[in-house]
Amino acid sequence: MTIAVVNQKGGTGKTTSTINLGKSLEEKGKRVMLVDMDPQGSLGYSLGIVDKDKTIAELLYGEADLSEVIVSREGMDVIPSSVTLADVELSLVDAENREFRLKEILEQLTGYDYIFIDCPPSLSMLTVNALTASQYVLIPMLMEVLSLQGLDLISETLAKVKKSLNPELSVLGILPVMVDRRRKLSSEVFDHIQSNYDFKLFDTQIRPNVRASEAPSFGQSVITYSPGSNSANDYLELSEEFLKLV
Ligand SMILES: Nc1ncnc2c1ncn2[C@@H]1O[C@H](COP(=O)(O)OP(=O)(O)OP(=O)(O)O)[C@@H](O)[C@H]1O
Ligand SMILES: [Mg+2]
Repeated sequence: MTIAVVNQKGGTGKTTSTINLGKSLEEKGKRVMLVDMDPQGSLGYSLGIVDKDKTIAELLYGEADLSEVIVSREGMDVIPSSVTLADVELSLVDAENREFRLKEILEQLTGYDYIFIDCPPSLSMLTVNALTASQYVLIPMLMEVLSLQGLDLISETLAKVKKSLNPELSVLGILPVMVDRRRKLSSEVFDHIQSNYDFKLFDTQIRPNVRASEAPSFGQSVITYSPGSNSANDYLELSEEFLKLV
């Protein structure tokens, strides 16, 4: 099963959620693959993968085999990215089957329970490739008023992809991240989403926690870096909810 982690806004916890939901599932005995579709390369970097010469970019160009690109970290498999992915995006602009490149690659993967795709903060051709290759979408979101505007845009993009490229696609839910439960504002945003959108909101909320932001400097998931922290516990709870949903 393939899940795209999407939000065209920057810094909404996509990469953090991809790594830590993945790691939480790995701890439950699931076989997990994480794919970085962001030219920023934060996913690999956050897991201590640096200077890899073959990445998702070379895979998409057809210049590398899967076995050259996959790196193992914390019991998970990872396909890292690099800035070259930005060039791939440009070269896809008028290529044939441009929306299906990632899907064709991921179809060669066998033996994984869950493949998570960490998307860039845009609704670009890279994100469209991720959406075309996935069954589910997970949307990490800050519970702020400005996030709501973004939600309309995601809805439109999902509807288009579903109609013309991938009828199977469905939204697993919106994951509220960095939620300060004492703030009234977030609850207004919650209410707005519940009354205006069909998207499910996860019951699990990810609290702001400094451990989550420290873990990448150590090249580790927060589950490994700081077991028992609020962040580790929140993502473990999310993995339980995730397993019930899928
Ligand atoms: N629960 C949390 N508490 C505190 N800091 C967090 C939490 N989750 C993520 N962060 C920090 O917030 C920043 C943004 O998170 P992250 O990189 O996961 O977002 P992103 O959506 O992937 O960003 P981008 O759009 O740039 O790819 C990072 O510095 C991360 O360490
Ligand atoms: Mg990211």
